[in-house]
Amino acid sequence: MKTCWIIYNGSLVSDKFLDQARLMAEACQNHGVQPFIYKNYEIQMHSAKKLEQAPDFVIFLDKDILLATYLKNQGIPVFNDPEVIETCDNKAKQYIQLAKANIRMPKTIIAPKVYPKFTIRESGYFEGVLEELGLPLIIKEAHGSFGMKVYLIETQEDFFEKVDTLRGVDFIFQQYIASSYGRDIRVNTIGDEVVAAMYRHSETDFRANITNGGKAETITLTKEQEQLALTAAKAVGADFAGVDLLFDEQDQPLVCEVNAASHIRNIYNVTGIHVGDAFVQHILKKLG
Ligand SMILES: Nc1ncnc2c1ncn2[C@@H]1O[C@H](COP(=O)(O)OP(=O)(O)O)[C@@H](O)[C@H]1O
Ligand SMILES: [Mg+2]
Repeated sequence: MKTCWIIYNGSLVSDKFLDQARLMAEACQNHGVQPFIYKNYEIQMHSAKKLEQAPDFVIFLDKDILLATYLKNQGIPVFNDPEVIETCDNKAKQYIQLAKANIRMPKTIIAPKVYPKFTIRESGYFEGVLEELGLPLIIKEAHGSFGMKVYLIETQEDFFEKVDTLRGVDFIFQQYIASSYGRDIRVNTIGDEVVAAMYRHSETDFRANITNGGKAETITLTKEQEQLALTAAKAVGADFAGVDLLFDEQDQPLVCEVNAASHIRNIYNVTGIHVGDAFVQHILKKLG
């Protein structure tokens, strides 16, 4: 019987991370794979020791990229690959990768590195960003989930205040897609296939994230939406992806972001589709 380690972050207190791991464990059992759930800190990354036991593969639900790399270096297949997790965990890096693949997305400017004790306020750089994107615009910190580090900036005053607080932090500026206010689509892809999708909408916020108050329902994707989600997942190399799509003024899709450890509980509740099942099936096929 094949074995799988499912790894999540043990420092996070919310039950939803363990719940996510349990859903993946259920999917393993459905496919005759023995799952073992671990918190990331339960595996000691010792430089001079090999793991005593190794599973056939790892489903990595955390952003502890060092641990994912450590496990991969021990010869264990890790899904998603640590490099994919790293790209997706850093929105700045991710948008660079999506741009390289000519993915349709809002105009995005990656903020330059500024050391925390210094400033480029007087350089004219920020005026250039304002000129290019106009107001309102979106600022996103590179590392953030559930809409928590995504800001809608409406005034110059808010803009300069925000960029000032973000010194030392990786972030990006992005064209605000007003036609997509409070609505987006979450598409789960596995390998070359779209497995499930839901339409998310919020009455109270520009962000459609469910954790942020958004509601979700089923949706049948257009060919364009399907194709764009698949090309975006491919552009970052993800076996398992949660792609967020926005609607432009003509209702055509734009990629908002690609998640490498997308939570699958909400989409399961909304669509009845267990994305973990398709994921485990895909891994088993890939491992042969
Ligand atoms: N450029 C944008 N224009 C309009 N709305 C956006 C834009 N970018 C993000 N959003 C909204 O904010 C939400 C969170 O942004 P996202 O990039 O997906 O970050 P997170 O990783 O926190 O989910 C999206 O689901 C979408 O509803
Ligand atoms: Mg998102």
